Amino acid sequence: MKSQVQVVRHADVAMIEIDNPPVNALSNGLRQEILKAVQGVMKDPAVRAAVLACAGKTFVAGADIREFDGPPGEVTTGDICRALDDAPKPVVAALHGTALGGGFELALGCHARIMAPDARVGLPESRIGLIPGAGGTQRAPRLAGAMAALDMVTTGRHVPAHEAMKLGLADEIATDLRKEAILRARALADAGHWPRVRDLAVPPCDRAAFDAVVAQVRKRARGALAPVAAAEAIGWALDLPFDEAVARERAASLALRGGPQSKALRHLFHAERVAARMPGTNGHVPAPWPVKHAGVVGGGTMGSGIAITFADAGLEVTLVEMSDEMVKSAKSRIRAVYDRHVKSGRIPAAVRDERMDRITFSTHLSRLSDCDLVVEAVIEDLPTKQDVFRHLSAIVRRDCILASNTSRLDVNRIAGVVDAPERVLGLHFFSPAHVMRLLEIVRADRTLAEVLSTALALARRIGKQAVIAGVCDGFIGNRILSRWRQQADYMLEDGAYPQDVDAALEAYGFAMGPYAVADLAGLDIGWAGRKRAAATRDPRARYVPIADWLCELGRFGQKTGAGYYLHKDGKRQVDPLVNELVERASAARQITRRKVPAAEIQSRVHAAMVNEAARVLAEGIAQRPSDIDVVLVNGYGYPAWRGGPMHEADRIGLPVVLERVARMYEADGPGWEPAPLLQEMVAAGKRFADLNG
Ligand code: COA
Repeated sequence: MKSQVQVVRHADVAMIEIDNPPVNALSNGLRQEILKAVQGVMKDPAVRAAVLACAGKTFVAGADIREFDGPPGEVTTGDICRALDDAPKPVVAALHGTALGGGFELALGCHARIMAPDARVGLPESRIGLIPGAGGTQRAPRLAGAMAALDMVTTGRHVPAHEAMKLGLADEIATDLRKEAILRARALADAGHWPRVRDLAVPPCDRAAFDAVVAQVRKRARGALAPVAAAEAIGWALDLPFDEAVARERAASLALRGGPQSKALRHLFHAERVAARMPGTNGHVPAPWPVKHAGVVGGGTMGSGIAITFADAGLEVTLVEMSDEMVKSAKSRIRAVYDRHVKSGRIPAAVRDERMDRITFSTHLSRLSDCDLVVEAVIEDLPTKQDVFRHLSAIVRRDCILASNTSRLDVNRIAGVVDAPERVLGLHFFSPAHVMRLLEIVRADRTLAEVLSTALALARRIGKQAVIAGVCDGFIGNRILSRWRQQADYMLEDGAYPQDVDAALEAYGFAMGPYAVADLAGLDIGWAGRKRAAATRDPRARYVPIADWLCELGRFGQKTGAGYYLHKDGKRQVDPLVNELVERASAARQITRRKVPAAEIQSRVHAAMVNEAARVLAEGIAQRPSDIDVVLVNGYGYPAWRGGPMHEADRIGLPVVLERVARMYEADGPGWEPAPLLQEMVAAGKRFADLNG
């Protein structure tokens, strides 16, 4: 096998080059080779200094995640850093691409760091349920200070080169990276001394302010262990000698690696990448069509958010609204978002102006005639959407992709009204579209592979997590959401109050409970939907009228100051009137109210999700169980550290979940039959992971 580490001499400087595509991940074998190369260079009398660099698109992007299920390797990244600490010759890291996790730790073990202008560094281990394990939590605060290091390890964010310079994490930004790194290495050798990061004192920090941020991290973690452990490890840099702190960091990192949370987050890491791949074409990916100019029809919250997303990614955008008045409000909505970004320091004013300039506003659909793609984001009503598509079909090019942002309507029926329906698909953005990461790409019966491939490429370009869904009412996410929301409503009638359900699910790890979310989103849309669906509802199915009663009272949620809660001065308060309504619903069904324990709320909600998810899978609406995990985590606030409902079901055991579903069926009747796929899997002793392929 070809060696993954080459040593090339540039006069008296050795270039140690790592080459392990695609991202130079540190595998067990690679670590051994790097250590050997460093040791060899140190022994070579003709070499006075060295540069550590990588081939390909990036410097080392971390340890090889695929090896985390096995035992730790013989040589650790910490061993390499120790060899660098003890080195009798200086070693300079030349960073391009993303130097992340163990990759950045290696760089921190070097004696200087030179970055390419577009390079980024970071310690994102907490995103996969870990903390750095090779001294990153001890070296980063010595260079950047404890506060900056705390921010890096708990958010996992990638720090751009100019910021890394400001923080002291990098010594120089250079366009001619390797040349400058060689010069720097030689200069250090000439000087005869070079700094070891481990010897630096951690700059003084306001301990009370540090502890306050750690307390915040703890609160925001909502059950996730890694960010809290990472914060604690940064604290050790303030309190303990270097070697003791590094030993503790390593032990904490290994403990997390073997635990369920890191396994769950690693599952998601893989799941997200698989979900965004083009399916079933025998290795052949149809080339995406170019998309330069995107149209958006409708400038409400959704349409405006979509326009922002496109403009942020550098697309030329034309947004069409029905009247000058509506154009004006769309424009000010978009402007307000950008102004907030400028105010918070996220973008400079010049970038805002540039992005605003990319968006053209109009009241004429004809302005979309040269678009490569148009997304319709008008009201959620089939005839209205069909009307828009009919008009579009007469205006745009025949190869212009037409997408609907519907959240549950039949995309086939929308496609049916246009010329060349094979260029139609659903692009279900989540609100607010410029913030939420998930994008359900709804493949209609006749959608061309090239059109799907274009949508996947576009999702990547605009920074969205794509998941492909089939056509059904609610696709993957909203269909599953409807079912577990029903179970939550049943629990209100059984004896819980909205605040109990919200508290139980927030304790489970959800960002927000379902009733708080309903108040935020507004209750009126759901009400209109229920009225439309009333005629087709199974009369035997259990129906909870509480939401309808709230709407009849004009309580549409936060925007009207009241819904499931009272909303005053941005605060949520429990409303005794809602408790009364809930009790009235129980009485109407002749239910003797009982205390519903938090554990029951959590397990019924989870079982309802999984049962519906099994149907979604059996119908081919989702391609694999892990896609469902990606949807629920990225679009619905399901705790990432549980890996998604399907991964969690595997962890609990499918027989246990099936038994819970059977109990729900017994209690709640029609509509709650155990899904045949779930029954089959239990009978065959299978797990959802077996279907991920
Ligand atoms: N170990 C093993 N494989 C890795 C990896 C790692 N640390 N990081 C990325 N990969 C693989 C991906 O699984 C993907 O493989 P695939 O093509 O078979 O799906 C491939 O490398 C490319 O990754 P992708 O994320 O699709 O590319 P990108 O250019 O969008 O992003 C990174 C590159 C490095 C920014 C991103 O992959 C990343 O954040 N990786 C994890 C970094 C990390 O957490 N490091 C700390 C580990 S302790």
